[in-house]
Amino acid sequence: MTSKPFALAAALSALALVLAGCGPAADTAGEERGGTLRLALNQSEDHPSYVALENFSDRVRERTQGRWNIDVYPNENLGNQQESLQLTSDGSVDLAIVSGTQLENLNRDFVVFNLPHVFESIEHQMRVITDPSIVGDLYSSLEDRNLTVLGGFTQGARNIYSSRGPVTSPADLAGQKIRVQESKVHADMLDSMGGAATPMAYGEVYTALQSGVLEGAENNEVSYETQKHYEVAPHFSRTEHLIGLDYLVANTDRLDRLPPTDRAVFDEEWAATMREFTDLWTTATDEAISELRSQGVQFHPVDDAAFREALAPLTEQALRTAGPTARTVYEKTRAEAP
Ligand code: GCU
Repeated sequence: MTSKPFALAAALSALALVLAGCGPAADTAGEERGGTLRLALNQSEDHPSYVALENFSDRVRERTQGRWNIDVYPNENLGNQQESLQLTSDGSVDLAIVSGTQLENLNRDFVVFNLPHVFESIEHQMRVITDPSIVGDLYSSLEDRNLTVLGGFTQGARNIYSSRGPVTSPADLAGQKIRVQESKVHADMLDSMGGAATPMAYGEVYTALQSGVLEGAENNEVSYETQKHYEVAPHFSRTEHLIGLDYLVANTDRLDRLPPTDRAVFDEEWAATMREFTDLWTTATDEAISELRSQGVQFHPVDDAAFREALAPLTEQALRTAGPTARTVYEKTRAEAP
């Protein structure tokens, strides 16, 4: 796990630079000379998003002859996702990777991609989330908060894990406090699946599982392994209730100040990064599963029909509480399903 004192020191020194006005981020006249973009991430260095973002940074640096750097701060060093999203909106941080659940809290329309079973596969998801005719309005909807959404990375299929034992049907979740991300639709989802939803930031989950505050959580194999949750909740049940999505969000003013040729490099390399990540993800998932098996984790099949039936009303309920954009995006997304 991360060293929080180090994390705090790194965050403070990054912020101090900005506040003191001596970091490149504060230098509006010097954009032609280049600068440094700070990117907040909540994953550890062995997560494929860190690897893909470091490669993104290297390619942008090379193609701008060293003028532009993207500094990736992993491990919630610039705050948890809720905090780093706020810092990106304020302009203290330039870029952040945040889960779709965070954006749902800024504009309810983002609920559309946080729903169970909205995507049939990672390939379907990536096709939809990179198609401007589907996501254009959604991605530009946060500009009043000075945030631009630039696409994202798959989180793969999310599953339930517990310290208690296998969760093969909704009845098995009775009385279990299960961590969800800070999202109303995910809390409703987990309650519908039979458990007691407990919203919490990512970095707090290990300790909460260890101390018994939680019985379980839900995530993909890669996070389960890299965050070491398997040590304290060794039963992994393949509910595959949704394919999650992480977004790259940028501070709009900062992004718009990039000189056009540098912005073109940034956009091209980010598009390449999304493709690279999808490949890395498949390998990382396979490696996580082998590592988990060698650590004694048990993977349990589930009664898929029972979970689907429990979750079926959620989509309509959630879309009713969102604006018309969410429904349009939902219909276009389903029309693209294989
Ligand atoms: C995944 C996802 C993160 C998210 C995390 C969570 O790891 O990639 O963006 O924060 O799940 O459950 O909070």
